[in-house]
Amino acid sequence: MSEEQTKTEAQSNNKSHAVMNRSLGLELARVTENAALDSAKWLGRGNKNAADQAAVTGMRMMFDTVNIDGVVVIGEGEKDEAPMLYIGEQIGKGGEHAASVDIAVDPLDGTTSTAKGRANAISVIAVAPRGCLYATRNYYMEKIAVGPKAKGVINIEKPLEENLVAVAKALDKDIEDLTVTVLERDRHKHIIEQCRDLGCRIKMFSDGDVAAAIATCFDDSGVDVLTGIGGCPEGVLAAAALKCLGGEIQGRLFARTPDEIKRAHTDSHYFDVLTTDDLAKGDDIMFVATGVSDGDLLKGVRFMGNNKATTETVVMRSKSGTVRFIRAIHNMNKKPEYGRVIE
Ligand code: FBP
Repeated sequence: MSEEQTKTEAQSNNKSHAVMNRSLGLELARVTENAALDSAKWLGRGNKNAADQAAVTGMRMMFDTVNIDGVVVIGEGEKDEAPMLYIGEQIGKGGEHAASVDIAVDPLDGTTSTAKGRANAISVIAVAPRGCLYATRNYYMEKIAVGPKAKGVINIEKPLEENLVAVAKALDKDIEDLTVTVLERDRHKHIIEQCRDLGCRIKMFSDGDVAAAIATCFDDSGVDVLTGIGGCPEGVLAAAALKCLGGEIQGRLFARTPDEIKRAHTDSHYFDVLTTDDLAKGDDIMFVATGVSDGDLLKGVRFMGNNKATTETVVMRSKSGTVRFIRAIHNMNKKPEYGRVIE
């Protein structure tokens, strides 16, 4: 190996080593905080596009301060349809010592929830070394997700009933005490019927299946299994979180309309079972989320007097397994735009 090659390899090793820098979690927390602070202004105002736009702009702006050399692999769509955080966009401060990373974002998971003043809207980011997050342009994914105690017992190719019985056994619960959480959609009528026939409890939610997947990893959330068809990007983000929390998700691309089917056919994994590791590969994953509206996991933004606001954020790191909750008080008087000073 030439001296030049050795140097290049050492440099790239430095870069991937930088991914493991635990302080990146705090930098990312500032990014989701910013998106949450901006979008929470739109809570209940009936304008989901404005809420989403505020989250996107707030998130994108703060990414410029983060010491990474990042590429968006899960984002706001194609470049021609999204001005910021589009798939393929390079973000972060970059530079020689910046980590080369994949970035998955959902600046606002729960646009409708925010517009209607409902629960569980969050702003989310996952980061992993380049090539480790599943890059997809697909819309929907069929999913099943469980927490650590039921890891290894699910199989999306098997009938739902079989999965639920296996999860109940792993959790040492009677089937009547097992709680399945599912997006309230017409397409899930058969799931609800099957759960009822089996005798399970069901918790339906109107939006936000990243938070719902995460909930399966927390004993006190009251839910044991997430299943149903939700967003494909949300599937990747949930996988990153479950990787950090020791849970498991399995997914399969799902397509109904001609456009969705055309897209799915461009993905070599159409029809494949996608495991947690297919969606978020390796053991150097970071996941960060800030609450926009109040939820089971995180409190939403509170606007206080004297131009101050509070946020609650969770930062997870698969390498250490640490799950850190950060409660921040923001002083808007000291920040331009809101204006926040962007150091
Ligand atoms: P948005 O915030 O982008 O609207 O997504 C909310 C959400 O509930 C996701 O959490 C979920 O994966 C997806 O929508 C389900 O899609 P649909 O609303 O089309 O059923």
